[in-house]
Amino acid sequence: MNTLRLKPEEVDQAAQFIKAGKLVAFPTETVYGLGADATNEEAVKQVYAAKGRPSDNPLIVTVSGPDQVAQYAAGITPKVQALFDNFWPGPLTIILPIKPNALPSAVTGGLRTAAFRNPADKLTREIISRAGVPIVGPSANTSGKPSPTTADHVLHDMDGKIAAVLDDGQTKVGVESTIVDMSVVPPVILRPGAISAHDLEPIIGKVLNDSHKVKANEIPKAPGMKYKHYAPNAQVIIVRDPADFAKAIAWAEEKAPVGLLATDAVLEKQNTVRFKSQYSLGNDVESATHRLFAGLRYFDLNPEIKIILAQGFTPDGLGLAYMNRLEKAAGLQYFD
Ligand code: TXA
Ligand code: MG
Repeated sequence: MNTLRLKPEEVDQAAQFIKAGKLVAFPTETVYGLGADATNEEAVKQVYAAKGRPSDNPLIVTVSGPDQVAQYAAGITPKVQALFDNFWPGPLTIILPIKPNALPSAVTGGLRTAAFRNPADKLTREIISRAGVPIVGPSANTSGKPSPTTADHVLHDMDGKIAAVLDDGQTKVGVESTIVDMSVVPPVILRPGAISAHDLEPIIGKVLNDSHKVKANEIPKAPGMKYKHYAPNAQVIIVRDPADFAKAIAWAEEKAPVGLLATDAVLEKQNTVRFKSQYSLGNDVESATHRLFAGLRYFDLNPEIKIILAQGFTPDGLGLAYMNRLEKAAGLQYFD
């Protein structure tokens, strides 16, 4: 199969492919998603095959808005309505109980809940409305690899496996949506993202954070959290304190060729001639979150690199979303 690269003005062709049961990767404000008609079980099964995703890991359902959710969800409580009113469209995925058999079990992994997402990105909204059906939208990467933030990343993983990718350049946020489970009381954040507990609590009251590190024999609430994630080929080691970079480099260099993933301020202080393999995270936690996945993918282009020293940030607000991804990529390996 030849994977087409479609331009934004070819969004209708992308929607036609979805309607025809084909797979199309599409941009959202967070990362690129792998789209298929959520009501077409055969198409949904192909999504698992293309990603190499275990079948017990359910997919996000990308919807045009609250009205479309109402067709599938078992009930919209006032708190859920308040989330719709305040955060949709936007990078917030909401887990809700669903009506029996409302969605193919391939979508839900057999769970009685489903994850609904209503992206703010204009082109995403366009493709959903033109397709006329909800679209499953897991991140468009091979299972276990960093989520794609450009169409090139998508093609690297999916070329030949999907009909097309709708190319709209780099995504804005850079990490996936916040997931909040509204099927339990109190609500629980299963995956941190750009919308944090600080944002949610004024609207819906107490929210628990359950994006803690999953231990080996624990059953995670978001099935996807139990799998190794975001990992490049090299071992990632997190450097919590930027002042420790020189020490960390000296230590790592004894073992293997090293790549640096850090802010400009940190990179400028190191001997750049030696570190041909370095990727800038920009200046702050926002740019770092935006660039993290691209940075992790960058080092896979240089197989010589065996260790990546990556800068940590304070795990608060967006920093919590950043650290959640980086800790998974690093398998919790810290330099200290
Ligand atoms: O920003 C995003 O959310 C991106 C863009 C493309 O929309 N999508 C995305 O999808 O990150 P995915 O499939 O890579 O991650 C969805 C996560 C998985 O960890 C999955 O296990 C969890 O959501 N999930 C899906 N349905 C669930 C459910 N009913 N209960 C709990 N977790 C669920
Ligand atoms: Mg994913």
